[in-house]
Amino acid sequence: MSPVIAKPMHQESAKGPEARCSFERSAAAIAENSRYVAGGVNSAFRIGMAGGPLVFSHGEGPYLFDIDGNRLIDYYCGMGAMVLGHTPHSVQQAVKDQVDKGILYAGQSEVEFEAARILCQYIPSAQRIRFGSSGSEVAQAAFRLARATTGNRIILKFEGHYHGWFDNILWSTAPAKDAAGPAEAPSLAPGSKGQDTSDAAGLDVLGWNDLPALEARLARGDIAAVIMEPAMCNQGAIAPAPGYLEGALAACRRNGTILIFDEVITGFRLGRSGAQARFGVTPDLSIFAKAIANGFPVAALVGRGDLMDMFATGGVLHGGTFNSQPVTMAAMVAAQNELTAQQYESASRRGVRLRDGIATILQESGIKAQVTGFELMFHVGFGLDAPARSYRDLLKLDKVLYVKFAHALLKRGVRILERGAWFVSFVHDDAVIDATLEAVRSAAQEIAAGK
Ligand SMILES: Cc1ncc(COP(=O)(O)O)c(C=O)c1O
Repeated sequence: MSPVIAKPMHQESAKGPEARCSFERSAAAIAENSRYVAGGVNSAFRIGMAGGPLVFSHGEGPYLFDIDGNRLIDYYCGMGAMVLGHTPHSVQQAVKDQVDKGILYAGQSEVEFEAARILCQYIPSAQRIRFGSSGSEVAQAAFRLARATTGNRIILKFEGHYHGWFDNILWSTAPAKDAAGPAEAPSLAPGSKGQDTSDAAGLDVLGWNDLPALEARLARGDIAAVIMEPAMCNQGAIAPAPGYLEGALAACRRNGTILIFDEVITGFRLGRSGAQARFGVTPDLSIFAKAIANGFPVAALVGRGDLMDMFATGGVLHGGTFNSQPVTMAAMVAAQNELTAQQYESASRRGVRLRDGIATILQESGIKAQVTGFELMFHVGFGLDAPARSYRDLLKLDKVLYVKFAHALLKRGVRILERGAWFVSFVHDDAVIDATLEAVRSAAQEIAAGK
């Protein structure tokens, strides 16, 4: 029997904030196709959606269209990847042109060198680069390089920071309170059943934004690398405390440890040159993915020439059939060329208007919340009395109420992540922001009234 995918019935007109979208066709398609695709989804992070996982027919600018015919203003933005929106013409055209020239060469191409030169031009830590296909994968390359360089085994990470789904690093990404241990000496908590628990021996965890704790741990001299999101954006949207990144770099230098910034989210969102330029701290290595090629599977490990050249002459192996695949490289070059200062400036103004507008509406509706973060990526945290400074503060989030809010917004044609993150693109224009704020007001009233 062929899978049931209902024919889309697109409703192109904007729905008013009271309009109710329904998602029956998505629900039916997920139920039917769960016979073929485990859970009906291809990533664990797509399962727990309020209203159920949705099935989409197409995207356009800031919108996604689902098979129920709903037009949704999209703040997932491909989990942060679609900084140019869903249909940037120049990227689409570059991909079409490259497809005509061949798909995979298993050799070098001019377009990958062009992509590399762009990163080296804009990213402070990028003296050399290596491309991969996902953030998870290039994080592994960074660990291997750090271990080879230092001779140490342990990678030090922070609670609430996520660096991919692989066994050796999927620890303490969002631990429950009872699994997290004491704040001053956190326990390593696995993120999945089936993980190789012996990997914990190659890892340690600390609370983030606590410089004395980091300095004390590094002084033991056994850490190969410290990896962190330079602004914590997987959980919450938390800026580094003043002096924290500088202090972390200095402590790494003192102890012969490699500092890795995971800019998979912050890269090309906190600015053209990433969080490292915004905060003025240049790490040894950095990883980028997501927005680097606006939705095409490109990731990059970039860093100091002497470290990166270990891949060439130092006996450190890095491979991958799809690394620097020309079609994705063409997408990357086109996407990178769209990242202009002028675009950042105008999109940032709109992002701030949205962020601050949400905060005002929630306050007026009597919903206790903290809205924190940046222009093109921020976090709405229900139930918090004060802005979170690290993961432990986020344990106080009222997640149940936020899921209700996310669902109320979805019914009004606005799609947000249930974990509180909002991703804004260059094409969320003022009219889209206005429509969103109207829907936020209506959804906030609904949940404040306990409906
Ligand atoms: C900060 C961060 N690092 C690494 C990753 C892993 O990237 P990928 O999903 O491309 O493997 C993610 C994914 O969400 C991320 O947010």
